[in-house]
Amino acid sequence: MRLTDIIRNQLDRTGTKLSCGIGRCGACSVIIDGNLANSCLVMAYQIEGATISTIEGIWEEESLHPIQQAFLEEGGFQCGYCTPGMIMATKALLDQETDPSDEQIKTALSGNLCRCTGYGGIIRAVKKAQTMIR
Ligand code: FES
Ligand code: FES
Repeated sequence: MRLTDIIRNQLDRTGTKLSCGIGRCGACSVIIDGNLANSCLVMAYQIEGATISTIEGIWEEESLHPIQQAFLEEGGFQCGYCTPGMIMATKALLDQETDPSDEQIKTALSGNLCRCTGYGGIIRAVKKAQTMIR
């Protein structure tokens, strides 16, 4: 069974989205032991003992995570289907690099596709999140 299906269908955590199912869009992005991964390409046997973070796990007590707040404030989404994956990709980046350059941001998000926003709001949101976290 794929990790996406375990998360969505067995654990009822439906924030992680399934779109292409073949590792092209990033909608299913999660963080596995600190590394961003497309959960549609990860099989159950590969994650035994691993720590997996999904969009549901990044809330900070009763409030939004700064990355979520930044996406909200900067218009980092429209339909929202790509957004959980975008936010997980942003979190994986900012967990490892506190002051990423524009190129590093674009590279980090290059595996995550958005069909609505044109990416401007997303890039602004990542930069705002970076400032908020610092
Ligand atoms: S659904 Fe996994 S990369 Fe598209
Ligand atoms: S906001 Fe619709 S796909 Fe990104």
